[in-house]
Amino acid sequence: MNSQRLTDRVAIVTGGALGIGGATARRLAAEGAKVLVVDVNGDAAARNVATITGTGGVAEALQADVGTEQGVKAWSTMPMPVLAGLRSTLSR
Ligand SMILES: NC(=O)c1ccc[n+]([C@@H]2O[C@H](COP(=O)([O-])OP(=O)(O)OC[C@H]3O[C@@H](n4cnc5c(N)ncnc54)[C@H](O)[C@@H]3O)[C@@H](O)[C@H]2O)c1
Repeated sequence: MNSQRLTDRVAIVTGGALGIGGATARRLAAEGAKVLVVDVNGDAAARNVATITGTGGVAEALQADVGTEQGVKAWSTMPMPVLAGLRSTLSR
């Protein structure tokens, strides 16, 4: 059983759709964090969010290329209530 030690925390996982980032996003959510899944592959990000929410987690997807200034601004300046409690950022 996972602990809920990240309840009320928010995590942004860039490259969070697949692979290591995808697994990291799911683990953070399983431990109670609200997770913003940022990925250049918007469809895969949405699928990972569906996996997370389907198991009771809280997550949102954002398609963005974090290799560009525009892509970074897309997630770092987004006016999402979920970001209000941001305390941790994981960038890969
Ligand atoms: N898999 C391993 O065993 C391993 C080991 C050591 C290091 N690494 C390194 O870790 C990194 C991730 O590996 P992985 O296996 O999880 O890769 P992956 O390809 O499975 O996942 C990478 C994710 O990042 C996303 N992404 C790529 N470029 C992006 C961009 N510009 N903006 C937003 N999202 C972007 C992809 O869409 C994908 O969802 C790679 O640099 C890899 O070389 C992997």
